[in-house]
Amino acid sequence: MNKPKLNMIVCVGKDNLIGDKVPEGNGLLWHSMEELNYYKSKTIGNVVLFGENTAKYVPLNLMKKNREVIVLTLDTKIEDIMKKYEESGKDIFICGGYTIYKYFLDNYNIDEIYISKLKPHVEVAKAKNPLYFPDVEKYGYKLISETEYNDFTACIYKK
Ligand SMILES: NC(=O)c1ccc[n+]([C@@H]2O[C@H](COP(=O)([O-])OP(=O)(O)OC[C@H]3O[C@@H](n4cnc5c(N)ncnc54)[C@H](OP(=O)(O)O)[C@@H]3O)[C@@H](O)[C@H]2O)c1
Repeated sequence: MNKPKLNMIVCVGKDNLIGDKVPEGNGLLWHSMEELNYYKSKTIGNVVLFGENTAKYVPLNLMKKNREVIVLTLDTKIEDIMKKYEESGKDIFICGGYTIYKYFLDNYNIDEIYISKLKPHVEVAKAKNPLYFPDVEKYGYKLISETEYNDFTACIYKK
């Protein structure tokens, strides 16, 4: 049986900042085409999972052209999604936001966590209600790979 991997992907600023709590802000605090391309390179051809708040501003229809897009509701069972994509060759990427990241870190073992750590030169807007990605090392994940890009360092963590 070829089970899909359950991965997580996130981009963080200083102190693991990930965004502004919606609806107070529109969520997005920076723009890096380079990081967006990295995100695409990892998720295209795979399954992307979003929380309901994040789904409000992500261009879901554009994503559906080359990714399977799932917006999580409280009734969604990840086990059913894993089963559906068995033998598909696709992996599953948990794509946020804050509530969804935390829920999966608290309740599941994640195969690979992709964290893009923005470099200080990338402009970050001020958040009214900042949200921070949890420290994955406290959950037992270890850094297994680090690749330098101009705007960010691409880190991969695994248990
Ligand atoms: N930097 C990054 O890489 C990145 C990526 C994505 C998002 N973000 C940021 O994350 C922020 C949004 O995060 P958020 O926490 O407000 O929203 P969210 O995680 O996108 O969505 C949370 C909502 O999803 C629903 N939900 C579905 N399944 C759930 C489950 N199993 N457990 C809990 N809730 C579940 C709940 O809706 P109901 O309460 O209505 O049931 C919950 O309120 C934005 O600031 C955005 O910019 C950052």
